[in-house]
Amino acid sequence: MGGDGIGPEVTRHACRALRAAASAGLVELELTDFPHGADHYLATGETMSQSTFETLRDDFDAILFGAVGDPRVPDGRHARDLLLGLRVRLDLFLNRRPLRLRAPGLSPLKSADAAPIDFEIFRENTEGLYVGVGRVEKEGTPEEVAVSESVASRFAVERIVRLAFEYAGPLGLRVTLADKANAVPHMFGLWRRVFSEVASEYPGVESEMRYVDALAMEMIRVPARFGVIVTSNLLGDILSDLGAEVVGGPGLAPSANVNPGLHGLYEPVHGSAPDIVGTGRANPMAAVLSAALLLRDHGAAEAADALEGAVDAALAQGVRTPDVGGGASTSEVGDWLVRRVASGAA
Ligand code: NAI
Ligand code: MG
Repeated sequence: MGGDGIGPEVTRHACRALRAAASAGLVELELTDFPHGADHYLATGETMSQSTFETLRDDFDAILFGAVGDPRVPDGRHARDLLLGLRVRLDLFLNRRPLRLRAPGLSPLKSADAAPIDFEIFRENTEGLYVGVGRVEKEGTPEEVAVSESVASRFAVERIVRLAFEYAGPLGLRVTLADKANAVPHMFGLWRRVFSEVASEYPGVESEMRYVDALAMEMIRVPARFGVIVTSNLLGDILSDLGAEVVGGPGLAPSANVNPGLHGLYEPVHGSAPDIVGTGRANPMAAVLSAALLLRDHGAAEAADALEGAVDAALAQGVRTPDVGGGASTSEVGDWLVRRVASGAA
């Protein structure tokens, strides 16, 4: 599902890379295109039918997504329905955002190349401030007050914190909770209690709790110290964009929205980038790296390695779009990646 703007431009190359991995015998897969996005919404008046939703839910192993957001739909209705809708209705509670500095010189940080930067953000994807609960009182008057409620349930917090420990343990990574319990005691007090309880079940895993403001400074000062950062929906949204910039910007940042073992939606962190749509400047690497996450989650590690290896080789050889300091177009980078995957070179 390419979606809007540069979504289809970058997803096309991710699909070609997937097909190349299949042709090389690294994975078996079947791909089906879905036209959903602003064009479909404007033409039909619907964002996604119930039957399409059920097809996606019941007949497919995973969704590869581009981006949604189009200036012709200023209220972003279709985007909310599609992306937030799929995240909520498929209960994709874990939003995984791996952040790895894949080549020297990509980070705007002077100190970035001194130690390997390679960490993940585990963002809670179903609750927090994004539940849309709230009210506006006395709208338009000088006494106007808006209230947005943030929700944390023990169930949702515990399942993602537990996943963070399960994931970090075997890899020997530190787990960090990012919160703001000092200023937002109800919601983040629960996060801290649950985090401490779960941490005590994993005595072999190093863990810590950090206030998000101090953590944001550390992410710039010593990004290499992090392993897995687990956090709420809003804080995870912000921290992962900050982290993406630390390792080279939106053109290189993949993500996975998953309910482990059940459903997954894989997408670049970036949006539809209307400012560069149609110019050939969109970097397809974040989409290709998202396809690699999809492969890895579905047991196709060799194919995932091939896609990631192709991106690393392209970066190393300077086959880059302008956002990462090169002069190549979307198609030139896409073609190069596809050839590399097809050649079977790791
Ligand atoms: P954006 O991520 O689309 O763009 C931010 C900046 O990064 C722009 O200057 C853009 O040109 C650049 N950029 C993004 N991806 C790039 C790539 N692959 N290669 C090179 N440069 C790239 O965020 P923005 O501008 O805030 O939002 C644009 C639209 O996308 C909005 O409608 C927004 O709601 C939507 N959006 C959708 C998301 C999704 O579908 N997951 C996520 C974020 C925004
Ligand atoms: Mg975001």
